[in-house]
Amino acid sequence: MSLSPARFITLEGVDGSGKSTQARLLKDALEALGHDVLLTREPGGSPGAEEIRALVLEGKTDRWSAETEILLFTAARRDHLERTILPALAAGQIVICDRFVDSTRVYQGISRGDLREVVDKLHALMIGREADLTLLFDMDPALGLSRAKARQTVEERFEDFGLQMQVKMRAGFLALAEAAPERFAVIDAGRDIAAIGADALTAVKARL
Ligand code: ADP
Ligand code: TYD
Repeated sequence: MSLSPARFITLEGVDGSGKSTQARLLKDALEALGHDVLLTREPGGSPGAEEIRALVLEGKTDRWSAETEILLFTAARRDHLERTILPALAAGQIVICDRFVDSTRVYQGISRGDLREVVDKLHALMIGREADLTLLFDMDPALGLSRAKARQTVEERFEDFGLQMQVKMRAGFLALAEAAPERFAVIDAGRDIAAIGADALTAVKARL
């Protein structure tokens, strides 16, 4: 069975794993090859979803329960999908999205109790779309967390959950990749930026 071409590409990994850096590099590399590329992110990527972003990423860790977060992230995703992602795909663009539903599966689905089934059911009901290709930037969560904390922004609600949680998140992402090997490319993100970028581009080119 041949895989469909990758037009909708998502980037996943623990906080500070280099997703945003690699998203920009990948966009530049694909544009240099002549592709029309849209770079977007979650939570956010549309005006309404960016407003929800501030609600979920700022404030104390106990501001929302995991269940409420699932609703907020999914609401943001629905708006992002309707207004940004689907129109771009329809216009023939390649969409690179910094985080998507795998982040909800991991951060909300396993971090504070087992809510994976709730995430998947709501996703099926309200989103119903998976990425064609997901690049998982895998790295030591302690290093990722130290990089993420060094940024010092107000968007630290999830980083403030601490290292133990990030360790769980990493294992969760790897389990998702193992369960859907046709969708995932796992990339060793504990190296220099250029080496990681080369692997990411190779994985994408293999699927274009
Ligand atoms: P994420 O989007 O996954 O949180 P970022 O791309 O924002 O990650 O990277 C987090 C921090 O680490 C940034 O300050 C970035 O410049 C730096 N960084 C990214 N990739 C590397 C790398 N391969 N080696 C060293 N530092 C990196
Ligand atoms: P992001 O800005 O990508 O953070 P970072 O650059 O630190 O990787 O995402 C912000 C936070 O939102 C991140 O800690 C993960 C969390 N998140 C969820 O908990 N669930 C979700 O569905 C998404 C998309 C993000």
